[in-house]
Amino acid sequence: MTKHEQLRAHLEGLIERELGPDERLPPERDLAEAFGVSRMTVRQALDRLERERRVYRVQGAGTFVARPPIAKTIELTSFTEDMRRRGLAPGSVLRVAELVAAGPDIGFALALSPAGEVLHLERVRTADGIPMCLEHTYLPAALVPGLTTVEGSLYAELHRRYRIRIARAEQSIRATVLDAAAAALLDAPPFSPALLVERTAFDERDRPVERAASTYRGDRYSFEIDVTTAAGSRSGAGRRAGGE
Ligand code: GLP
Repeated sequence: MTKHEQLRAHLEGLIERELGPDERLPPERDLAEAFGVSRMTVRQALDRLERERRVYRVQGAGTFVARPPIAKTIELTSFTEDMRRRGLAPGSVLRVAELVAAGPDIGFALALSPAGEVLHLERVRTADGIPMCLEHTYLPAALVPGLTTVEGSLYAELHRRYRIRIARAEQSIRATVLDAAAAALLDAPPFSPALLVERTAFDERDRPVERAASTYRGDRYSFEIDVTTAAGSRSGAGRRAGGE
């Protein structure tokens, strides 16, 4: 290995293993001495790491380990929280609450046998009284004994009544169109564009507690996602954009 390669390997080791985010790398002078290279060589190695967003520099203070480059997390919210943050009043019209067999797909998502019992809720979710989303939610019946109706927030009810707190979820979002029945419920033209959000939610013990399919009207709903670069996450920038 050339000196230059040794320096590079050493710096990578520091970044990957020895130092945490926002910790300072040794001064250029010390690195140059330790590896018997010029400060220019050290600077070039650090420039490269900076371009790769693995480190960042602060004028007069030194070079620091960057946070993992992209934080692309969608904050896990309930419909109720989501609407409130947009300045809209959330609402819910319960259409169906029934105990059914999970079937293969929902059973798989909830770690139940296809014959396992789930509570199926169908709700039209409203924002300022206008239909926004049609939601089919499935919960393992054994986790929510006695639940036959939900008036406001399901997540609030799960916590209040069963001490179940949603900790994380696996979620996908894709484009779809409203079929005639969904269109009628959402007060939108048939075949109008919509967003289908499918979520499997897990509680603090990592048990799957909910499988849900939420169909949002494409003309009324947009996803607000914070996407942060290494620089943004350090400065605390990239706040939620808020409503539409
Ligand atoms: C979102 C999620 C659903 C979840 C719902 C709970 O819409 N996509 O999976 O069931 O929030 O919302 P709330 O607590 O308002 O009933």
